[in-house]
Amino acid sequence: MKRLWLAFIVVVAASFAVLGWAGVRMYQQAPPVPDTVVTTEGRTIIASGEVAAGQDGWRSMGGMEMGSIWGHGSYVAPDWTADYLHREAEDVLEQWSRARYGTRYAQLDAPLRAALRQELEDSFRANTYDASRRALIVSPERAAAFERNVQYYSDVFSKGRKEFAIPAGALTDPTRQRAVTAFFFWSAWAAAANRPGDHVSYTSNWPHEPLVGNRPTGEAVVWTGVSIILLLGGVGFMGFWHAKQEPEELTPAPASDPLLGSMNTPSQLAVVKYFWTVMALAVLQIVMGVITAHYGVEGNAFFGIPIDQILPYTVTRTWHTQLGIFWIATAWLAAGLYIAPAVGGVEPKGQRLGVNVLFVALVVVVLGSMAGEWLSVKQMLPGELWYWFGHSGYEYIDPGKIWQIALLVGLFLWLFLMARAILPALRRRDEQRPILTLFLVASIAIAGFYGAALGAGRHTSPTMAEYWRWWVVHLWVEGFFEVFATVVIAFLFARLGLIGLKSAGRASTLSATVFLGGGIIGTLHHLYFSGTPAAVMALGSVFSALEVVPLLFVGFDAWQNLKLSEQRPWLQQYKWPVYFFVAVAFWNLVGAGLFGFMINPPIALYYMQGLNTTPVHGHAALFGVYGTLGFGLMLFTLRAMNPAGVWRDSVIKFAFWSMNVGLMVMVGLSLLPIGLAQTWASVENGYWYARSPEFIQLPVLQTFRWLRAPGDVLFTLAILALAVFVAGLTLGFSYEKEPKQAPELEPARVR
Ligand code: HEM
Ligand SMILES: [Fe+2]
Repeated sequence: MKRLWLAFIVVVAASFAVLGWAGVRMYQQAPPVPDTVVTTEGRTIIASGEVAAGQDGWRSMGGMEMGSIWGHGSYVAPDWTADYLHREAEDVLEQWSRARYGTRYAQLDAPLRAALRQELEDSFRANTYDASRRALIVSPERAAAFERNVQYYSDVFSKGRKEFAIPAGALTDPTRQRAVTAFFFWSAWAAAANRPGDHVSYTSNWPHEPLVGNRPTGEAVVWTGVSIILLLGGVGFMGFWHAKQEPEELTPAPASDPLLGSMNTPSQLAVVKYFWTVMALAVLQIVMGVITAHYGVEGNAFFGIPIDQILPYTVTRTWHTQLGIFWIATAWLAAGLYIAPAVGGVEPKGQRLGVNVLFVALVVVVLGSMAGEWLSVKQMLPGELWYWFGHSGYEYIDPGKIWQIALLVGLFLWLFLMARAILPALRRRDEQRPILTLFLVASIAIAGFYGAALGAGRHTSPTMAEYWRWWVVHLWVEGFFEVFATVVIAFLFARLGLIGLKSAGRASTLSATVFLGGGIIGTLHHLYFSGTPAAVMALGSVFSALEVVPLLFVGFDAWQNLKLSEQRPWLQQYKWPVYFFVAVAFWNLVGAGLFGFMINPPIALYYMQGLNTTPVHGHAALFGVYGTLGFGLMLFTLRAMNPAGVWRDSVIKFAFWSMNVGLMVMVGLSLLPIGLAQTWASVENGYWYARSPEFIQLPVLQTFRWLRAPGDVLFTLAILALAVFVAGLTLGFSYEKEPKQAPELEPARVR
């Protein structure tokens, strides 16, 4: 065990050293934000501080929740970087054609057009940033294009655009409109201008835009190959390792449920309301999801009801993604709070009060942050209040700063409550110690890494804001959440007496080391095109490919868990929590492993970033793995609270199958075909086209968008059924009236 721990510590420390080093390089080599933009004739077109003000304005409107920048964000409105770049390029070509040949560009002969395109490519790729003056110098034609784009974007944001699901009046202040356009301009400039002394742009030539010579870099192709080969190698190695393992002797399962007769402490009982909240938030998330998806087909209304002034797309999408995180977190926090005193064997003093205080705090953060986001998107928060109480503009860490800090405090309160309950068990130094230590490490990391959200501060450059944002999102989902999931499932099986605590501890530490070995440096796979140096692409692609290796083998664990749970009749009682855990493994393979790797190689993500292939992966992985785990933990906890009651099968059975089939149908019938069609468009014509209304509104794609309905309906019914089932566990109607008792089941003894 000592050697395992040593390996764990070395892997984690070395990986963070590399990730930290990459962060320093990113900071040093991020595209510069100019103070001013001036023309070659000396005229100022973007005034001092206007780009930064534009970043603020964009964030206050909901930022990534309305379109995207550098491919990061939402999918109905355009990617503003690609959109601006394409408009600007066409505008300059048009100006040159008219000035030199007196005719429209489209009417020129092919050789003349080719010559102009070459000139355009050369001029856009030339880096004209003057570091000594912090000024960016552009041609008068680019300046003229900027003015036209100011008019265009002002029109988009004041009058609204149905096809982008942008409501009228989204941004009406002319100063802010101009500043936001300046920010779009800057993101597009960095996407085409070569790094000093290089022939590749700051964003490694992303987005694909033939007009300015943006095509995949040599690195993107080479690291794609290397990462795939390494993945295959990893799979071979892991297969060999598995083959070598002696089949483990099954620990004979106890004759009756070891949890029977255990008592629920006051703090454990206080956890039940968390689960009602989980279901309420999940239902609300689905409602928001249905509205958000519907905006994709009817940009300003919901089946004819004009709702875009009350609940704009930006708000429903923000709430949809954020509620997902909130209910999943709530389920896990609650399960942790239930398990902790059971493990420690004592109820710490005042624990129930702590659990209740945390609950109130969570409710305040959920409701407060949602209200702030709505006010911010509606541009109702004066001055800088948007930053503190409104919308951060960054997807998955959407709440304003104060709410982020409040959530962090809440997470640490949770950690405190967990630690004090578990400590007595750790002090016993018995065979539970390794697995409990790992459990505590995962809990500390989950709480602590949210702190990285604070790194994306008021004036942080988009490159570094992305870095810190993915410290939260990626290090959670592909790092410490995986550890938490492995540990918690192993631990619960150990509590049921199905596996030994010692071997559970060893196996969990080993798999945590394997996950984190790829997962920590793998963070960089989100940053290939975010203004980062080429080393980021190399490290990110290789290490994230290694992350996939253990995911391809989760079938082993799932099968073992199923086998274990079929040993004794009393285990029938745990069938549904176990089924949810098996589904976690399934979606880890399909949603995270396969759909994650589909978009992961640099050459794939170059064309696919921010297309519908991303929500394919997002839904199948985030809901599929961690949502399902949240439900599984909830069901296990509710099961353990009353082990003598016999569950009625029908409702929960429907919920389980309808949820999984619904998710599969939603992804397979709608999101994936649209994503693949978009990929084709992105390769053929450029990224801007794949995201443009011309393409997205094609009838065949419209049909595929409608095909979301069957999956969504199954999925919605499943969540409603689960809510009903959970309510029935409190109100009684989810239990058999006359328990068909298995022979060894006895009623709970109350001590
Ligand atoms: C259970 C584990 C995982 C979860 C919960 C998860 C979740 C997510 C989420 C929520 C996003 C953002 C989607 C968006 O921007 O709308 C994302 C993006 C991404 N994920 Fe994962 N992921 C997991 C595992 C993986 C794995 C194993 C890989 C590949 C090795 C991967 C590769 C990616 C990539 C490349 C992106 C960026 C897509 C883009 O920017 O368009 N993910 N993931
Ligand atoms: Fe990731």
